[in-house]
Amino acid sequence: MLSEYDMTRAIVLGGSRGIGRAIADALKTIGIDVFAASSGDIDTSDLDSVRDFLKNHDQTDILVLNTGGPAPKQFSDITQDDWNLYHNQLFVGFCTILQNIKINDGGYIFLISSAVIKEPNAKLIISSAYRAAFSEVFKVLSKEYARNNISCINIAPGFINTDRTLELLKDMREFEETIPMKRLGEPEEIGNFVKAIVENDIKYMTGVTINFDGASSSYVF
Ligand SMILES: NC(=O)c1ccc[n+]([C@@H]2O[C@H](COP(=O)([O-])OP(=O)(O)OC[C@H]3O[C@@H](n4cnc5c(N)ncnc54)[C@H](OP(=O)(O)O)[C@@H]3O)[C@@H](O)[C@H]2O)c1
Repeated sequence: MLSEYDMTRAIVLGGSRGIGRAIADALKTIGIDVFAASSGDIDTSDLDSVRDFLKNHDQTDILVLNTGGPAPKQFSDITQDDWNLYHNQLFVGFCTILQNIKINDGGYIFLISSAVIKEPNAKLIISSAYRAAFSEVFKVLSKEYARNNISCINIAPGFINTDRTLELLKDMREFEETIPMKRLGEPEEIGNFVKAIVENDIKYMTGVTINFDGASSSYVF
């Protein structure tokens, strides 16, 4: 389908590895000029770094909000510094970006959140808390962006085969047996999903959260 909007540019945060890298690579295959950022280009926990990045990247057609995730920690072990760091990394950093970047009409914003926004996890409580908070902001903003035909899609991965998952899991084979599909998801599956949305000019699916978890979750809505 030919779109009235020409999607030519994308900014993918956390685009140097894992899920972000797979999205960047998939978008490049359809001729999109992708800036795939590493933590050296923008550190979403450091608001000065975020503002510096925005000086050179203040406009795009497609934005992927993605960053590194917190290490697992029990509630009793979480420090004030941990709260402050991830409050910025997973919440204020993304809010600052959206307050200062122009998404061109007909564009897309994809958020990489996590399955833990719907099913909180005792070891990933920081991740559950701040990602759920930002998902609320993203949902509210989807209504404003919709006026300019900009679609907002929250992707909530379960366990995907990336560096982060390899760090989190002790025994991969044993863990895979607990997933209905008996395997981790591949980052390329998320990359191809994002590409398919853009390539096929799918716009009306917005304000949604997409579970990407191989049927691990048990909730219906
Ligand atoms: N993999 C999963 O199963 C899974 C499941 C649910 C949610 N998630 C979440 O989805 C996101 C991506 O996961 P992933 O598995 O692809 O992670 P990953 O393989 O660890 O890659 C993380 C990416 O984020 C960048 N990054 C790290 N810290 C950053 C910071 N402070 N500011 C900006 N960028 C930063 C990294 O850049 P460098 O290369 O410079 O380090 C890298 O490009 C994470 O937030 C993760 O917690 C992952």
